[in-house]
Amino acid sequence: MNSPAGFSAIEWAGQALRLLDQRRLPHAEEYLLLTDAGSVAQAIRDLVVRGAPAIGIAAAYAVVLSAQEHLPQAPADWRARVEADMAVLAAARPTAVNLVWAIEQMRDCLAQVPADPLPTLLACAQAIHDADRAANFRMGEFGAGLIADGASVLTHCNTGTLATGGYGTALGVIRSAWAAGKLREVYAGETRPWLQGARLTAWELVRDGIPVSLITDSAASFLMQLGKVQWVITGADRVTANGDVINKIGTYQLAVACRHHGVKMMVAAPLSTLDLSVPDGRQVVIEERPASEILELAGQRVAANGAGAWNPVFDVTPAGLVDYLVTEAGVIAAPDTERLRAFYAASSSAAQAPLAGKSP
Ligand code: MRU
Repeated sequence: MNSPAGFSAIEWAGQALRLLDQRRLPHAEEYLLLTDAGSVAQAIRDLVVRGAPAIGIAAAYAVVLSAQEHLPQAPADWRARVEADMAVLAAARPTAVNLVWAIEQMRDCLAQVPADPLPTLLACAQAIHDADRAANFRMGEFGAGLIADGASVLTHCNTGTLATGGYGTALGVIRSAWAAGKLREVYAGETRPWLQGARLTAWELVRDGIPVSLITDSAASFLMQLGKVQWVITGADRVTANGDVINKIGTYQLAVACRHHGVKMMVAAPLSTLDLSVPDGRQVVIEERPASEILELAGQRVAANGAGAWNPVFDVTPAGLVDYLVTEAGVIAAPDTERLRAFYAASSSAAQAPLAGKSP
């Protein structure tokens, strides 16, 4: 199913998974057709598909591919082989909790499947995909509701249709706020080193007809000092029990700068990104990627020969720097352990848009 943006980054195509190759954007729109779980794990590792919810959704479809491959080959122990594939998928990237969350959902589904499991597994994967898209729309409404008319916003990384089931987390909030006529300007940080902002967010917003100005990541504090933005809006790869936000490298320095300049920090993340089993952000494994991503640009060495590089691709923003955490079940102002716990306890009725906590 196409998202409102008019394209689908992840699509089930009969008996294969069709992924828009995000490494090639914005210069080429090429799709890969994957027929086995190992290829999907590789695509997740290589950033063909990226963004926390999107890698979870791709992994869910990969479990269907796994069953499809192993059932005819090994009718007696196909479940053990699917388990092995799920372990490979779960290890593809370490930081986004949505990946293991989606695999857990598929494991539960697998435990209940009848003799012919494929239709049930596919329905489970599609339900995960559809639920994420629906969550995006609700976050969009809740987040846009916080923004006053005439605001300008800065976003980081790519959190749109490419990174989710469709529409987006932070970018969904921006889309909804733009549609409501609330936004004056949208800025996007280019997001070194992989340039998710410059290549992907700009591509999505231009397609939508939403004007976007790119800034270098290092221009963000100056942008705030000049009073050019009232909000920074980001997504998250994991939110821990105390409200710490693990997101694309650079999010932490944006949050520090926001607090210094009186700019509000909004984090939009579906409930599948909340990980209450981890007390705080210090316990989360932060993915480090190859130094070549910094030392080279499009395969061309740009750094001085002999220089090394440290390339952590996520960071931890302490909960105290987050003004609003927006989920599909409502908004938590000034998130902390107490408020997150209370929010969870109320989450059965929370779908009715509460504002938990008090104003920061
Ligand atoms: O390394 P990436 O591109 O997968 O990182 C993506 C992000 O950090 C996003 O901000 C995050 O997944 C939340 S968006 C839906």
